[in-house]
Formats: sequence, structure tokens, C-alpha cells
Amino acid sequence: MADAQDILSLCKRRGFLYPSFEIYGGVAGMYDYGPLGTALKNNIIEIWRRLYTLGEGFIEIDSETINPEIVFKASGHVDEFADKMVRCKVCSDAFRADHLVIEYHPNAGALKDKELDELIRINKVVCPACSGGLSSVEEFNLMFKTNIGPGSGRVGYIRPETAQGIFVNFPNLYRYNREKLPLGVIQVGRGYRNEISPRQGIIRLREFNMMECELFIDGEDKTWPRFDDVSSETLRLLANDGLEMEISIGDAVDQGIICNQVLAYFMWLTQEFLKAVGVDEERLRFRQHERDEMAHYAADCWDVESLLSYGWTEIVGIADRGCWDLSRHSQFSGVEMSSFKRLDEPQEMEIDRIKPRYDKLGPMYKGKAGKIGEVLEEADPVEVKDGSIIIEIDGEDIAISDELFEVVRVKEKVTGVRSIPHVIEPSYGLDRIIYTILEHAYSKKDDQTLLSLKQTVAPIKVGVFPLMARDGLDDLAKDIDQELRYSGIETYYDDSGSIGRRYARMDEIGTPWCITVDYQTREDGTVTIRERDTSSQVRVRFDEILDVVRAALCDVDLSMFAVE
Ligand code: ATP
Ligand code: GLY
Repeated sequence: MADAQDILSLCKRRGFLYPSFEIYGGVAGMYDYGPLGTALKNNIIEIWRRLYTLGEGFIEIDSETINPEIVFKASGHVDEFADKMVRCKVCSDAFRADHLVIEYHPNAGALKDKELDELIRINKVVCPACSGGLSSVEEFNLMFKTNIGPGSGRVGYIRPETAQGIFVNFPNLYRYNREKLPLGVIQVGRGYRNEISPRQGIIRLREFNMMECELFIDGEDKTWPRFDDVSSETLRLLANDGLEMEISIGDAVDQGIICNQVLAYFMWLTQEFLKAVGVDEERLRFRQHERDEMAHYAADCWDVESLLSYGWTEIVGIADRGCWDLSRHSQFSGVEMSSFKRLDEPQEMEIDRIKPRYDKLGPMYKGKAGKIGEVLEEADPVEVKDGSIIIEIDGEDIAISDELFEVVRVKEKVTGVRSIPHVIEPSYGLDRIIYTILEHAYSKKDDQTLLSLKQTVAPIKVGVFPLMARDGLDDLAKDIDQELRYSGIETYYDDSGSIGRRYARMDEIGTPWCITVDYQTREDGTVTIRERDTSSQVRVRFDEILDVVRAALCDVDLSMFAVE
């Protein structure tokens, strides 16, 4: 297995990743993407985006990263989004308590403060940096706090997940979707968490890249139209009763291991995506959260874990968030966050209605009484709070006391019902996916590094070399390079050093093909194209290069183009 240090040093040497602010000594948990890392990241995002927008018909938004406090009060992050921390009594270094006892408990992340304290005490765990004694466990909220506006301004937080930007826009997005469910919304952007002790390269960052999907569905109907097409596809599951199994998603739902079709479908889709971008299927599993490990909002949750040199590591979280988010934002904002489900046939139902008391409204509101009565008749009785209801008359909010109306139960024919949608959320940590792809693609043979990236994500698709930078070979190679680039194919032109060294440089950054112009090119109009993983070469016609590369990008076997 590759060593994390090898990967990180390759990343730095070849321009995938740079530790941020390195000239000032760096900051733990912060990395910049270099030219190759940025290209790799963009390629992965594009595949993901297409899978959800073109494949599933979902829509994409781009929301604010700084949010007013009320958003995270409503979401529960202000009160709940904390990790358990201990400090060294000697050097004051801080650590995540669950990480320090990982070898003494199979699921330390689910333990309570007292249980962690006890485990630290019994096992005589000390500070990993200086062996000093440790403080007792305390909660540390991971959100970065800020002010919106000058002075003390208004308290804001930098988002720890992109999801809330989607939830707070639900009324707009539901309207955009012509008031229909399911409604799938994706967002790609940064999340910020003030992690206690980030020490594992880009696995634990303080500013990281997320690709999140929030799928709004009818809470009464968690079936999925395309489920039957893929129900025989299998996943490797580690359920929270400890059982590990390879099982079809159809059986997993039938046996109640995965709680519904929608969750299961998106677990499968996630597996397909990860395989497509180069995560090794053999080093992939889905681990169900323990009941007491689940985030405050989740009804069921599966982590997609990849096997890395760091051990099994969460790279994607897939949760059934129930109606938590929309209910809470509705409660905190006072804005309706429900969807309307049209019934096949109108049905007679008993419903509560507000009946204005005109005998009391008249003397009190005189000429306005009629209008107030009309608005009250249309208002929803659930809006009655603390003995009054607030209604809007001519742009003005008026509180109407419940002495001026009654709530009566009536029988009415209704055409539909309102309910708060449930949310299924696949949340992808892009940096961890990138790291996994790099580690799973990495191998070393005779001191030579090979990065077997999928061609779809490889930052450079083709290396273009003249055998010698003279005799017109360089001009021909530059023509090829330009033709490919102008056709949208990323290339790297290199005319320095031996051909062997040039191939090696491309192998190390995962370039799938290299084209070499040599003296034979001038004689018979052919060039060689070399395939990265096998080092095999075929000669193809110079004037067919663009077709050959386009075919290679579609996984066509290049021997088809070989010139005898
Ligand atoms: P962990 O338990 O490792 O802290 P988490 O359960 O808090 O992760 P989620 O809240 O589910 O993670 O976030 C969704 C995804 O975002 C994760 O699957 C992970 O890939 C990624 N992620 C979370 N925190 C970080 C981080 N600090 N740095 C990089 N990626 C992260
Ligand atoms: N939006 C999922 C998470 O960050 O926890």
C-alpha cells in the first residue's frame, strides 16, 4: 500500500498540492491546489455535476458561504456541531478525544464525554506530542464565527456545510420546479470547520471542498422510479449490528438493512461515481452509523469509506435527514416550507378553519373589518400562536387576538394535502475523494512512480514530444500539440531530456498517452502513441492523430489505428 508521505511529496513536487502559506511556516489543515490538482479537481467536479444534472435531472445553485447566526441556530449547528476535545496539561496542545482512544474502542466517535474520560484514564492515554497528562473532555464547536458588517455587527458563521444554502432557498427552488417533488438540488463549494487537530494531509482540512446534493421527496413515499432497474446491483455493507455483507440493494431494502429505496439508489449511484473517477472498488465499503453516532438531524446515515494508508476513512456521507431541516427553518423564519401533494381524486376531509367573529371585528376595525375577515378565513390555523395570529393587511402586519375568531373543524372536499418534504442527502468530501484517487492510482516499480489515473480525470491527457528539438521534428510536434489543445484536449509539450525521462515524468502525473515525433515521421507521416499503464506503443498516421486521441478518450483500443 502506498505511504501517505510518498503521495504528499509527489503532490508537492509535481504541482497537485501545496501546503498553504508555506513561506510563513504553513497552517495545519490548510492546503492549496496547484495546477495539476486544480485540473484534477475540476475534472472530478464536472463528472459529478453531469451525473446529477444530466443523469438525474437535478438543478444546481451557488449560495453564500457566510450566513447569519439564525441559519445555524435553526439547523442545530450552533448548539450541536461540536467535537470532543482534550488539552495537554503541559504543552497545551489540543486533540480530538475520540481519536486518542481509537485503538481501545471500535466506535469511539459515538462515546459520551464521561465514557471518553474513563477510557483515557483506564488506558493511561497521554499527550501524543509531549506525554503530558490530559484535561477532561470538553465540547468544541467547529464553526468559524464572524461579524457581518462593521463593529460588532451581526453575528455570522462561515458555513460548515453547503447544505443550508439549499434548505433556506427551498421556497424559491420549489417554485422554480413548478411546485413538484422530487426536487433534487446540488451545490459545489467550500465548507469550513475549525478542526481541533488536523494532521492527515487533505483528509482533515479546515477549509475543504464539498459536493452536496439535497433531494426533497414526499416523506410518505420513499420509493424511487429507477430503483427497479438497478435493484440487483450490489454494495459492500457494514451494518450497525456489526454484520458485514455483499448484498444487492433490492435485498438490502427488502430486509430493512437500508431503510428505503431512495437512500439505497443514491448509495449505488455514489458507488458508480466513485468507481468512474478511479476509486478502487475493492477498497470501498458503506458503514452504517450507530444510532448514537448519527448527526443531530439524521434518521439514517451511511458513510462511504475507502481503505487508505490512514485506515478506513469516510469520504462521502449519505443521510436520510427526514423533515428536520425544513421544519426547523420554517419554525425559525415563520415561512411556509411545505409542498403540496395533489390527490388523484378530491376527497372529503375534516380540516380546521378560522371563522372570523364579525360581531366583534366590526366595532373594533370598522371599515377594515370585512378585509380582515376575508384574510382570516384564508389563514392557516397552525399560524395561531400565543393567543393571536399575525396577518398582513395593505402591507402592514396586524396581530389579531383569538377573541376575534374561532377555530372550527369543517368537512371539505380537498384536492391535495400539504406536508414538509423529507431530505435524502449524499454529501461528498471532494478533497478526500481526490486523495483516495491518488492513493489508489499510485504504484512504484524499480523506483519509477506510476499514477494510473482514469483518463477522464487525468489533468493532462497527452504528452507531446519531438525525439529531438531540431530538424523540424519540434515544429511537427508543436503542430500536434496545438491541434489537440485547440480541440479541447489538455496536452503537455516537452522537448527536454531523454525520451525515457519524459515518459517517466508523464507517468508520474498520470498522463494516459504520449505521442512522439521521430525521424520516421518525416519519411512516412507516422508517429508513435504510447499507453501509460502497459508502455505499449503503436505507430499511427500523423494526420489521424486527433481521431486517434478522441477514440482513446472513448476507450477504443488503439491497435485499430496501427499502421502496419
Ligand atoms: P469526520 O467524522 O471525518 O469528521 P464528518 O462525519 O463530520 O467527518 P460530514 O459532516 O458527513 O463529515 O461531511 C461530509 C463529507 O465532507 C465527509 O464525508 C468528508 O468527506 C468531508 N469532510 C468532512 N470534514 C472534513 C474535513 N475537515 N476535511 C476534509 N473533508 C471533510
Ligand atoms: N451536509 C452534511 C454534513 O456536512 O454533515
